[in-house]
This record gives sequence, structure tokens and C-alpha cells, in this order.
Amino acid sequence: MNALTRDLKQLVELAEKAAPAGGHFRQKIHLMPPTGWLNDPNGLCQFKGLFHAFFQYSPFNPEGGVKMWGHCTSRDMVHWEYQGTALYPDQPFDCHGAYSGCALVEDGRMYLYYTGNVKLEDREYDYVLAGREGNTVLVESEDGFSMGRKQLLMRNEDYPADLSCHVRDPKVWKQDGRYYMIQGVRTKEDVGEAQIFVSGDRLSWSPLKRIRTGEPFGYMWECPDYMDVDGQKLLSASVQGLEGDKWRDQNVYQSGYFYIEGDILGEYSLSEYQLWDCGFDFYAPQSFVTEDGRVVLVAWMGMPDCPEYGNEPALAEGWQHCFTFPREIFIRDGAVRQRPVRELEKLKRKVKEAQDRLEAECPSAWEADITGIQGGAFRAVLGGGLALTYTGSRFEMRFEGPEGERISGGRRLRYQEMKSLDSVKILGDASSVEVFVNGGEYVFTTRYYPETRTLEAEADGAEISLYSVEL
Ligand code: FRU
Repeated sequence: MNALTRDLKQLVELAEKAAPAGGHFRQKIHLMPPTGWLNDPNGLCQFKGLFHAFFQYSPFNPEGGVKMWGHCTSRDMVHWEYQGTALYPDQPFDCHGAYSGCALVEDGRMYLYYTGNVKLEDREYDYVLAGREGNTVLVESEDGFSMGRKQLLMRNEDYPADLSCHVRDPKVWKQDGRYYMIQGVRTKEDVGEAQIFVSGDRLSWSPLKRIRTGEPFGYMWECPDYMDVDGQKLLSASVQGLEGDKWRDQNVYQSGYFYIEGDILGEYSLSEYQLWDCGFDFYAPQSFVTEDGRVVLVAWMGMPDCPEYGNEPALAEGWQHCFTFPREIFIRDGAVRQRPVRELEKLKRKVKEAQDRLEAECPSAWEADITGIQGGAFRAVLGGGLALTYTGSRFEMRFEGPEGERISGGRRLRYQEMKSLDSVKILGDASSVEVFVNGGEYVFTTRYYPETRTLEAEADGAEISLYSVEL
């Protein structure tokens, strides 16, 4: 450990010690750091049985700053234990941030690939073409806790010449004896795409091919991911710069996926882009495969550059943001579905059940299951101002009235057209809900800040059960 790393470590620990304890809105079953700011999930993996989640971490200021990798571990993806900071911005090639990246687990070792961000202040006038270095870095770990030497693998001049300086967020997989790495890129023409690199030894990489849509789609693809879900290949990307009617009333940036027809390394075509989540707070998801073969997806429950922030109640407690609850991704009837990881089931205890209508004070972490909805009408109101409704053709998440205004920070409406509704699962925590509709066909995720956690749910013919999640 060099002197700079030691100083940074000490400063982070001081900030964590000085952080106020507790807080009404701190989450119970969602990963969050002890203090400050969190964004993207990084290096998600299950390594020697234990789940590791790293995250973009800025401990000194809840509104962000230079990024390092915080580290948590878990045995069940519900209880997370904070393990300190794993990667600091302590080298010339990552001095303005250890940016997002992934973990490759092989032969009992953990290989962490990430982007070393360097801001070239003298060239800030040219943010897109010359304003930064996006270095590709590797760190190896024997045990998942102590980190080896940082190895600089690629720099801007190693990337294809038509790319701007925005190249970042490596995700690596192994296939047929070779290693592949996908990174998000912005071309010099201002088009968002993904670049695949190939390597025989995990260390020396060369550009292999570009992944793009037929028509330009946004100006930057952040955090791309390639996954195999029940035999269906998906390409995920968090896309900046989508314009036009379809995107006008949506979040400032989008997170979604394409179904891949064919072979991404050979001939392929991409489907239409599908949103991972229809709510307000979901960005930069990353997938990993558990040791028992499930594809699990975790996102930052937040949104960058968001004009209507809404998180003041968390800021007042000295922190901002958390992860989404880990979701199993699977295919049903040919389409992607999502559900909370099954580890949650063991911790659920039924506290109330009713037919047609239920009114309750919610525990601090809870799940409501509404099944067998008949006649197509559904309404639930949470915390006095967050309404979930279905009226026969669209499902809405809406902050209503003055209380809605207060708990949402001014955010209002997200919706999705839907031909029918049969079930709704709501996963609630101190300051968030994740709503899984029709067995996970659609999900709506949002932060909100209710003083009292109440639920009123109503749907003809439905069985409504409320569970507390016992930690
Ligand atoms: C996405 C992102 C990544 C980058 C990281 C920096 O939210 O902008 O592209 O690596 O966050 O924190």
C-alpha cells in the first residue's frame, strides 16, 4: 500500500466514523454504504460461496465526488456486511476515479476489471473528444478481500480510432477458451455503441468488433452487459441521449436490453430496446451468475444527472442512494421476467391477509402479494401519496396530492400499457418500493420518503397477503 492509498484509507474511515448513526430513511434490506454517495454496482459475483458486491462510492459527500470501490459481502443477498473500501483512486491512471467494472471468477481467483478515469483539465473544452482518459485496469485477488497490484491493460490509444475518449465500464466473460470484454463507447460522431475486445490470457486485449443498432441509438451506452438467460442471449446497456416522443416523459437516461438473434461474436441482430424497469430509479444494472446457475441483476436505485432529484430526506441524513434488491432474471413465454431473489422467501412472515381489500401499517421491510386479480381493476396507496393503479389498459405509478409531492420530491407519473393484470408484488423498504407486475413482466422501482409506512390495496377477487421481512 503506498502513502496515498494509506491516507485515502484513513480519510474514508474517518468519514465513516463521523457519519451519523441510524436515520429514519436508511434501508433495511437494500445494500447501501455507511455514509455518503453510492452509484453503480461493480464486480458482482459469488466467490467461494460468498456473494461480493462492490459499488461506486464517494464517502466524503452525499452528493458525489471522486469515485472508489466500496465493498460488501453477503451469504444470502439480503443481509449485507460492509467490508470497507476495496479500490482507491491512487494511481496516475485512475486518479479521478476508480470507475465501474466487473468481476471474473476463475480457478479460485477473482479478477476485477474497471475503468481508471483521468480528467484532462487542460482539455476540458473538448469533453467528448479529448477531455479524459478511460484506462482499462485489472486487479487480481486471491481471497476477494486483499487486492493485488493494479495492472494497466489498455489506454485511449489502444481503442479503435473512431471512438471518442468515452470508453468505459468493462464486463468480461469466458467463452470457448477465450476471454471477451464488452465496453460502452461514444463514437466521434456522437453515437452510443458497445465495443467487444478479445484476449487469450486475460491480460493482453485487442478490439474485436463493434455492437450497434441499425439506426443510431443515443450518444453513449454506459455499463453494457452480455448475458445468457435460459438460453436467450441479451445485451443490456444504460443509454444516454434518447430523444423523441417515446422518451419525452421518461427518465433522463434509460436502462434496458436487446434480445440478440444469432451470435454476438458473429452474425447477429438486435431486437427493439426493452426497458428493465418502468419506474423512476433504476440505472447501470449489472448481472452475474450464482454458483447454482441463476442470473441475478442488481442496479443502482437512482439516476444520474437527474433534474428532479427528490432525495433531500436522505441527504439530510448524510447519504444518498442504494442498490435495487437483487432480481432473478428468467424467461417465461419467450420473454424476460424478473423476481426478487428466492433467498427472501425464507425471511418472510405473514402478518395479515384479506380478500378484495387490505389496509395495514407496514413493517420496516415488507412484501405485499396480490394475486388472482379479477375484473382488471386494481388500486394501492402507499404512505399516503404514492398510488399504483390499473384501470384496464395501463398500469400507473403516480405521486398524488400534497403528500405525494412531499414524499417524491416533485416526481409524478410513470406508466406502462398492459392488456391485463393478474398479480402485483410490492417489495417495500424504509424509502423505496419495487413493484413486480404480472409475475415480473414489468417492474416499477422508486425511492420515496413516507413518514408512516401504510398500505391500502384493493382489487376485486384478489387474495392480498402482507409479509414482514424478518432480519
Ligand atoms: C454510470 C457511470 C459509469 C461510470 C460510473 C462513474 O452511472 O457514469 O459509466 O463508470 O458511473 O461513477
